[in-house]
Amino acid sequence: MKKIQIINGPNLNLLGRREPGVYGSESFDGFLAVLRETYKERAQIDFFQSNIEGELINRIHEVGFDYDGIILNAGAYTHTSIALQDAIRAVPAPVVEVHISNVHAREAFRHVSMIAGACRGVVCGFGLDSYRLALEGLL
Ligand code: DQA
Repeated sequence: MKKIQIINGPNLNLLGRREPGVYGSESFDGFLAVLRETYKERAQIDFFQSNIEGELINRIHEVGFDYDGIILNAGAYTHTSIALQDAIRAVPAPVVEVHISNVHAREAFRHVSMIAGACRGVVCGFGLDSYRLALEGLL
């Protein structure tokens, strides 16, 4: 049984209600319940969300020496946060960067990731299924 932490960053608490044309209308809670049930034999999946950059960093520190992998949707901090990049480099757990939308098909500022180079891999553009694909990669 692998221990996997999903971390969602800013504005992702509004999934299902936020820009549904871009991010879909499914809530993360409903998706997570199905993901946990589907993978219950293979993974213990813990979930954390914060809109605060430092709380995301604290969570990476808390789990990064203990868990088998981290699935991180850092939201807009993806494009700005060297501190998150440093946190990812500081821990041994592999981190997969995920995005619901295809960031490369959107505004130019979303084409840059400050964290991708520190991550084990990147999944984007598959809607909420991006998280499941990241989980498959970690398992
Ligand atoms: C996002 C893409 C980011 O550019 C954006 O700031 C988000 C969500 C995604 O999952 O598609 O908040 O990470």
